[in-house]
Amino acid sequence: MKDLKMEDLVSFCKTYGFIFPGSEIYGGFANTWDFGPLGVELKNNIKRAWWKRFVQEDKNTYGIDAAILMNPTTWKASGHIDSFSDPKMDCKKCKQRFRADNLIEDFSNGEVKAEGMTNEEMEKYISDNHIKCPKCGGFDWTPIKQFKLMFETSRGTVEGDKDTVYLRPETCQGEYVNFLNVQRSQRAKIPFAIAQIGKSFRNEITPGNFLFRTIEFEQMELQKFCKDSDSMDFYNDYKERALKFVEDIGLKEENLRFHDHEKLAHYAKCACDIEYKFPIGWQELNGIHHRGTWDLSRHQEFSGQKLEYLDPETNEKYTPTVIEYSIGADRLTLAILCEAYEEEQLENDTRIVMHLNGNLAPYKVAILPLIKKNHSEKANELFDMLSKDFMCSYDESGSIGKRYRRQDAIGTPFCITVDEETLTNDTVTIRDRDTMKQEVVKVKDLKKYIEKGLNK
Ligand code: GAP
Repeated sequence: MKDLKMEDLVSFCKTYGFIFPGSEIYGGFANTWDFGPLGVELKNNIKRAWWKRFVQEDKNTYGIDAAILMNPTTWKASGHIDSFSDPKMDCKKCKQRFRADNLIEDFSNGEVKAEGMTNEEMEKYISDNHIKCPKCGGFDWTPIKQFKLMFETSRGTVEGDKDTVYLRPETCQGEYVNFLNVQRSQRAKIPFAIAQIGKSFRNEITPGNFLFRTIEFEQMELQKFCKDSDSMDFYNDYKERALKFVEDIGLKEENLRFHDHEKLAHYAKCACDIEYKFPIGWQELNGIHHRGTWDLSRHQEFSGQKLEYLDPETNEKYTPTVIEYSIGADRLTLAILCEAYEEEQLENDTRIVMHLNGNLAPYKVAILPLIKKNHSEKANELFDMLSKDFMCSYDESGSIGKRYRRQDAIGTPFCITVDEETLTNDTVTIRDRDTMKQEVVKVKDLKKYIEKGLNK
């Protein structure tokens, strides 16, 4: 991962079918990417792992899937209509538009945080450090202007009669507006959380560094509703849980760090990010935010509906405090790909190997008949048997060595070779992706063997 360049990862992902540039045959569409056959499996496995950890294994967390298009007043209440914008500046030479804070952070490899700077301070930093246009190398910037980040669309019931609606820029508002629906229908007692995974949209102009910053992305967000007196405990708890989760699915401790926000929203008590050391430097991977009672109070004010909790034991009525944990599924997929990718030097050769955690790997097993005409019938039988339990790849073309290499590169933990022994003894050879060691296993024991290997 040390020497991995983003452009090499982009090219690798396209070659092997993880991720393709969006609308490529039309020359692409900036900051959009399409997940291919391997990428969709990887991202789904990441989302499943998050849901399992934070919803399935937590009896006080309830999942929802709220609508992307919400009543526009939602965005008035949340503050997005009035203030969700980025500081942008244009290169006068090539006319490309950039986020001033990103220019500073990219220039300083993530070491300088622009979040606390005013527009004037950012302009001064860019000028003092002579930060050039990343596209054309010019140094002729317009002053900074605020640029709206929400995508607008319209809903018309009659032709010509149009109301502006917004593509949601974050999923959490669906969690706030459903606070009472979930609490009442599930008879939930505070503290409890609402979680969801879904698409969000932001009009990001800056070239996005692959999946890191895109205009359409998935968020995995969770809001913990609690008493204010318990809120700091939950804040610290989610910091630890968020870190443990990303370590458990494969990110190394030395590539992760906490970053406490210096500039806080006026309602926030504290906020922090977990940062990951991407090939572009240390950057935000996820956020944990202490949001006070701001969200529920604002929705209460704008909707006219009481969003309070009545404590059944004390009869106390109050607006709960919210602790938010938010992580982008696409950004996490990028981090996982960066971490897992290795160009390994072997004795007489090099191989690309994706050391993906078994539970995240797109395919768990590859089934490879040694000689197509002799072994493919049995190999197909094995595919039909194992694909009931695992995502399996089937490959009968090319030399066995080349087929192993391809499976190493896409992160398949086990390759099963079907050969003469399989026909006579009902055994197969299993090759481990990381050690490249081979073992002979009885067909009847295969399922257990793979299950054990994936959960090691
Ligand atoms: N509800 C709080 C919220 O949306 P955020 O820090 O703006 O907070 C949370 O976003 C996470 O969503 C980020 O840490 C990142 O993982 C992901 N994210 C945000 N904007 C993104 C973008 N343009 N492209 C990809 N992921 C993004």
